[in-house]
Parts: sequence; C-alpha cells; structure tokens
Amino acid sequence: MRRTKVSDVLKSDEIGKEIVVKGWVRTRRGSKQVNFIALNDGSTIHNLQIVADVEKFGDELLKRLTTGSAISVTGEIIASQGSGQKVEVVAKAIEVIGDCDANEYPLQPKKHSLEFLREIGHLRFRTNTFSAIARVRHAMIFAVHNFFTSKGFVNVHTPIITASDCEGAGEMFQVTTMNLNNLPRTEEGKIDFSQDFFGKATNLTVSGQLEGELAAMGMGEIYTFGPTFRAENSNTSRHLAEFWMIEPEMAFYELDDNMDLAEEFLKYLIKYALDHCMDDLQFLSQRLQEEEKGKKEEDRSMELIEKLRFVLENDFIRLTYSEAVNILKDSKPNKKGQFKYPINGYGSDLQSEHERFLVEKHFKKPVILTDYPKEIKAFYMKMNPDNSTVRAMDVLFPQIGEIIGGSQREENYDKLVNRMKEMHIPAEEMWWYLDTRRFGSVPHSGFGLGFERLMLFVTGMGNIRDVIPFPRTPKNAEF
Ligand code: 4AD
Ligand code: MG
Repeated sequence: MRRTKVSDVLKSDEIGKEIVVKGWVRTRRGSKQVNFIALNDGSTIHNLQIVADVEKFGDELLKRLTTGSAISVTGEIIASQGSGQKVEVVAKAIEVIGDCDANEYPLQPKKHSLEFLREIGHLRFRTNTFSAIARVRHAMIFAVHNFFTSKGFVNVHTPIITASDCEGAGEMFQVTTMNLNNLPRTEEGKIDFSQDFFGKATNLTVSGQLEGELAAMGMGEIYTFGPTFRAENSNTSRHLAEFWMIEPEMAFYELDDNMDLAEEFLKYLIKYALDHCMDDLQFLSQRLQEEEKGKKEEDRSMELIEKLRFVLENDFIRLTYSEAVNILKDSKPNKKGQFKYPINGYGSDLQSEHERFLVEKHFKKPVILTDYPKEIKAFYMKMNPDNSTVRAMDVLFPQIGEIIGGSQREENYDKLVNRMKEMHIPAEEMWWYLDTRRFGSVPHSGFGLGFERLMLFVTGMGNIRDVIPFPRTPKNAEF
C-alpha cells in the first residue's frame, strides 16, 4: 500500500479506511494498556496521533519508538476522542524503519533555544519551527513566480559567476581555479588572473540587475530570482553572505511605476501567506508571543497575523530622503532622546535604527523613501534635475528596516558614463552594459527584494539565520 501523508490523513473524513503512514516519532506517552505516538512527516505542523495497544505490540517494540525514530504504521482512521485533531489512527502493524538512540539524539521533546538549534542545524528540519518556516518559504517562492507570471513578466536566469560589481561596493567573493600557494603575478606584483580559467578576475554575483537590464531592454518586463553573495563582514541579524534576491526590471517604467509595483508585490506575497499558510503562521505567531512575554510591554512587537494584515490594509507612506532626515533630526527615539548613530543632517546614510523609527514609531506604516543623495547610492541610478539626488527608492518595513532597494536607471549614455567615471567604475569593461544606452535606450526601473528579509517579516523570526535552511555568515559554513 502507498503511504498517505499526515496532512492528508488529518484532512480525511474516511473513518474506517486502512492506510499506511510513515514519519518520525515526536513523542510517545501512555499507560499500561495503550500508547499514544505523535507522528510527524513534515507535511504539516500538526502531528498525527497513533494509538497502539501495549499488549498487541509488546514492550520491546514500543520502547524503540523514541523521539526521532522513523516508523511505518499500518492502521485504521478513527474519529478522535480527544481535542485537537478530528481523526487519529489505530495501529494494526508498526515497523521501525530507523532506530534513534535517545541518549545520543540532540533533539528532545521540549523547547530548544534557537541558538542551540543553529548549532545542530543539520537536524533543524525535524523541529516544528523550522519545518513551518520551510513550508512558508516554499509558499513564498511559489507566490513570487505566480505574481510575475500573472503580470506577463518573464523569469530570466542571470549568471552566478560574473566579472562585474553591480553595487560597486567591492564586497565580492573571488572565484578562482588557481593554486593559492602559487599565484601567478604581474610585473606590478598583482595577481595575474589572465592566466586563470576565464582569463580575467571573476566573482560571485552581488546582484542580477545589470544582466536583468539587458533582458528588459528587449523583453520589456522581466524578473530574476537567484542566489546573490556579499562578502560584507557584518554580523547582524539581517545580513547573510549568501541570500536570495528577486529583481524585477521593467522597460518604460518611471520611479512612480516602480513604487506601485513594489507595493503591490509585497502586499500580494503577504496576502498569499495569509491565504495559504495559516496553520504554520498560527504556530509561528504563538511561538513569537511566548518569546515576547519576557520583554517589557513597550518593546513587544505586534502579534504576527495582526501585523501582516496591518500591512495589507495601509497605503505605504512615500517621502523623500531629505524629508525623512528632517523628521529624524528633530526626533527623540527613546528615553535617552538620541539614536546610537546620530543624524548629522543631509548626507548621512540611514541606519536600520533610523529606518525602523520612521516606520514603527513615526508613521506606523511601511515607508518608501526616495531621492537619496547620489553619494550614498549606486552608479546606475538616474540623476534628478538637481544634479545632487538620484531616483532611488528603499522600502522600509517594521521589524526589518530596508526590505527592498531599487531605482529608476540612468538611461542617458553620457550621463551614465560621467557618473561611472566619478565613481571609478571601469566603463570600458562594461561596454556591453553601456550598449543598452547606445542602441534604443528607454526609461526603465527595477528593484531587489531580499527574500530572507521578506521571510523574517512573514514568519516574525528575529534572526535571518533562522529563515534560510543553510545560513552563510562570517565564520559559519559548517553545513
Ligand atoms: O539594496 P540592494 O543592495 O540593491 C541591489 O542589489 C539592487 N541591484 C537591486 C535592484 O535594484 N535590482 O539589495 C536589495 C535588497 C535589500 O533591500 C535587502 O532586502 C537585500 O537585498 N539584501 C540583503 N539580504 C540579506 N543579506 C544581505 N547581506 C543583504 N544585502 C541586501
Ligand atoms: Mg540597499
């Protein structure tokens, strides 16, 4: 007989039907007459209760059904007596597929700290919290493709190995096949990459945008969804060295169109989670509430599902960087009355404490900031007529700060080349990018959504290491 998934058994109303279920034991408890085994197979947050007659199966077998062991159960669906689930299964046959030594197994049937679970990340999929997050993550991936497909966007795969630095921040991981102990050098003593695999220096991509722009300049509306890599040595709860980014790029879009799309996109994803992941979200919401109990009233965050609905129901506030700086200059964010990084007026880069203050305390709504000083933004952004600000947009979310970064692009060849020179971007090497501005250039815009930042928001988790299965952070690439 084929196995039925636990999620399907729990939905079933076929009382009396015989089925086979397979999964991992979460707990076993019971009396001298009957044992109750909570079985989970990853298909749902809920466990299936297996009822096993002690006399029928005997102590020797039942003792092997420890937390973490893998079993196969043939049994009959019955209506559940207890509260919780509608149905349970009375076992007719139980087979141990894989034993699990309870003295060795790191996961116990109790709540473990997230820090501890990170140390045993290879087993995290067997916990409620991480399996819930993995299912929500999958739903969000699907929703991203749904959203853009329904709008006629084409998904484009951009390269992971590139020779360019889209953001110009120099935070790249080098790719090389050369023997590190014996690197060929040029006469000036620099590493000679011309002798390497690609004949030039290459790195893991920080963004698919530049190639995305090439595609948009023929396909109109495209999006990328791929891994991106940043060697920024920032050990924060919102930065990863390897993260996934969704980057739509649209010909004939100006900044306002770009903002409209970003807002619609985020709301679509959140609504999709509420419509399709309620079981998991309810579990995660409860988890969060328990965690928040220890905090002072004023530091507690909003209840998760309420917070998600709240974003759907409100228009995002749109204002310029300089308006934001004026607000921040005169604000008293806390009892001390100051930010950790003071705002010294126009030109200061905003830290996440400033972004979160605007969203959580000042406007109490998501905010889109536009028109940043050119000095703190990337070379490709379109210059405003004031010659000092660019058509950038950052979407700021409660709990997260920056969730999306984007802009209208500079479509004018001369202006773009000038800007590249000012910022020491090697224009000659990017002739292919500049060609889009030489041949049929059009206004265009795009943005990047950090997928794990979205996941932080949707799941209410506090640390980005907990919303990606295998986090890559400084000093951390064990598994
Ligand atoms: O603001 P960023 O650097 O923008 C770009 O890369 C543009 N090329 C996007 C575009 O216009 N097509 O990054 C975009 C988003 C950020 O808003 C943030 O959500 C996320 O990517 N992000 C990170 N997420 C996790 N870890 C990191 N180290 C991140 N750096 C950026
Ligand atoms: Mg940014």
